[in-house]
Amino acid sequence: MLERLLNPRTIAVVGASHKPGKVGHEVLRNLINYGFPGKIYPVNPKGGEILGLRVYRSLLEVPDEVDLAVIVVPARIVPSVVEDAGRKGVKALAIITSGFSETGPEGAELERRIVETARRYGMRILGPNIVGIMSTSKRINATFSGLTPYPGSVTIISQSGALLIAMAGRTWIEKVGINDMISIGNMSDITFPDLLQYYYGDESTKVIGLYIEGLKKGREFIEVARRANKPIVALKAGVSRRGALAAASHTGSLAGSAAVYRGAFRQARVVWANDLDDFFDKMLVLSLLRPPENGHVLIITNGGGVGVLSTDEAERQGIELEDPPKDLKEELRKYMPEFGSDKNPVDLTGMATDKEYYGTVSAALSHPWVGALVVLFCETALTSPQKVADAIVRAYDDSGRTKPIVVSFVGGPETMKAADTVKERGIPIYKSPELALRALAGLMEYARILKKGEPEFRPFGDVDRERVRRVLDAARAEGRSFLLEHEAKEVLEAYGVPVARTRVASSPEEAVALARETGLPVVMKIVSPDIVHKSDAGGVFVGVRTEEEVRETFNKIVENAKKYKPDARIVGVTVQELAPQGLEVIVGATRDPQFGPVVAFGLGGVMVEALKDVSFRVAPVTPEDAEEMVREIKARDLLGPFRGQKPRDVGALKEVISRISQLVTDFPEISELDANPVMLYGEGEGLKVVDARIILA
Ligand code: COA
Repeated sequence: MLERLLNPRTIAVVGASHKPGKVGHEVLRNLINYGFPGKIYPVNPKGGEILGLRVYRSLLEVPDEVDLAVIVVPARIVPSVVEDAGRKGVKALAIITSGFSETGPEGAELERRIVETARRYGMRILGPNIVGIMSTSKRINATFSGLTPYPGSVTIISQSGALLIAMAGRTWIEKVGINDMISIGNMSDITFPDLLQYYYGDESTKVIGLYIEGLKKGREFIEVARRANKPIVALKAGVSRRGALAAASHTGSLAGSAAVYRGAFRQARVVWANDLDDFFDKMLVLSLLRPPENGHVLIITNGGGVGVLSTDEAERQGIELEDPPKDLKEELRKYMPEFGSDKNPVDLTGMATDKEYYGTVSAALSHPWVGALVVLFCETALTSPQKVADAIVRAYDDSGRTKPIVVSFVGGPETMKAADTVKERGIPIYKSPELALRALAGLMEYARILKKGEPEFRPFGDVDRERVRRVLDAARAEGRSFLLEHEAKEVLEAYGVPVARTRVASSPEEAVALARETGLPVVMKIVSPDIVHKSDAGGVFVGVRTEEEVRETFNKIVENAKKYKPDARIVGVTVQELAPQGLEVIVGATRDPQFGPVVAFGLGGVMVEALKDVSFRVAPVTPEDAEEMVREIKARDLLGPFRGQKPRDVGALKEVISRISQLVTDFPEISELDANPVMLYGEGEGLKVVDARIILA
């Protein structure tokens, strides 16, 4: 059905106006002027003729099949037009009209009604509240803007209409070639996943760019995006923390939606754009270049300064620069003076002319060691920027244009003019070395995505669902919407998560017996549904050493609790194994309004909160995604090896993240979970959850 929307043979413009300047007039004019090869049918009850076309008084009068009806009548008239379209057998509607769900409950009701009508007739709706559709390959401009994009192979789908038009203009400056531009508006029916699916099968689209403000169905988006057969670049706007869940839970308070989106998009194999510039840069490289076949990036420059700047940026982007192999060095040496450098960056020095650029770029592109090439040029008095530009383009053409290359020209008007000619020849070029490196990093990210494949979550078979069910039901039966600590640990244990052994004693004697079983010293804590902050109540003792102390501590804890809250129900006192100190980390889970259960990882202690150094993924999380998530935090160096300590057991950690993600997926009633702290030990030594909280929805 989307085929008829996006590749229509006939288009009706309903609300085509006789008056130039009105939206309905402009849409019709743009459609005609841009050269749509199919039939165009203006519809307006006034009849007559507009721009040389006969006007039909209603859709029902059109003497042909109508694939797409573009609707530009006021909101209150839209329902009757949708009804007419249904009776006519129109396949798809693009509703430009505003005044629907974006305006409040009344508009939302109107929107619901038109969707219902369309569904009844089997029609699809794009919008409402859109600027329309443009296609350079199909010569469609069904929008009220005459500004059509620079032709090419990128399809942009945008939730903002105005920005879509502005971007169409900017494509001429950036030379980002566009196939289709789709305004998606209120997404009353057609959503991002629907369009993604369509464009996977569209051969004229090589890259998909998404401008997203908010997703309606986050999970469906991830499912569809991760199966993409072409690069997807997404610019997510509105990254406020509003979507975060209530701050009751520690990790919940950190679930800023920006971080969740970022994690989810990574999981969905989507290339993330930081801002509008980055969005354009990444779409450009991905549409022009193939991902590198190996990770070796070689930088060629004529200026030490830009070379150093590019080296800095490479490091920031996680691109490791290695010196080229001996034979390539020898080749490169031929094109530089004695005082040049054959290391990486290769410095041709300010003496370099077009001849040196041609020679070195050719040598690098033809050497198998080089995966991707960065060519930098600093304007000098000695050489003509245009000649250098031509030399780079020629070398690239002569090499067969197979390896990715990004260029940066730094200089004045003459240099910028030369840069434009490089851009026009389909080579990404930037006005600073950092931008060139950033764009290349986008391409390399996509290379990694391709390598990663499409991992499916394989559930752990050794989990005990029944045991979890029993614990949750028991808590519910007592009218509780949270688990006591030992219950939370039992739930984790049932899912194969190693926890510090924790048992409840209801008398001092029982405590002694349990301590004997666990092994001294132990940790002892109050167990009461009425005491949340156990330490404040004097209800936590760490390192209880002797049996006598265990007995005394039991009594002391009960006494303190009674003093703290006389009416508190006291279940008993836990006797817990004293886990050895490790690196303290947190694994948590919360429910995101868009994505459902999400899992969080961060280091323990106050730094996690201060630095918001937490990574997120949507559950369930494969061990592969869990590893990425662990390596993504800023403090990753602490996972070692660090200061003489051996590396931490990341293998055990990623398994636990994965298991917890399965737990919160299997039990949707778990609304928040915190394993905090988790003691993470050295490689091969595993980890242990020392404290845990679970809140039920
Ligand atoms: N079938 C077909 N045409 C009809 C009709 C019907 N049932 N009823 C009325 N019309 C005609 C009108 O006669 C008029 O044509 P005319 O100028 O020749 O008389 C035309 O439809 C438009 O109606 P009008 O009442 O003049 O509305 P308008 O042009 O002032 O506004 C919209 C219509 C859709 C442009 C406006 O309601 C709107 O939504 N604007 C915002 C659009 C926007 O910005 N969208 C993108 C956001 S990113």
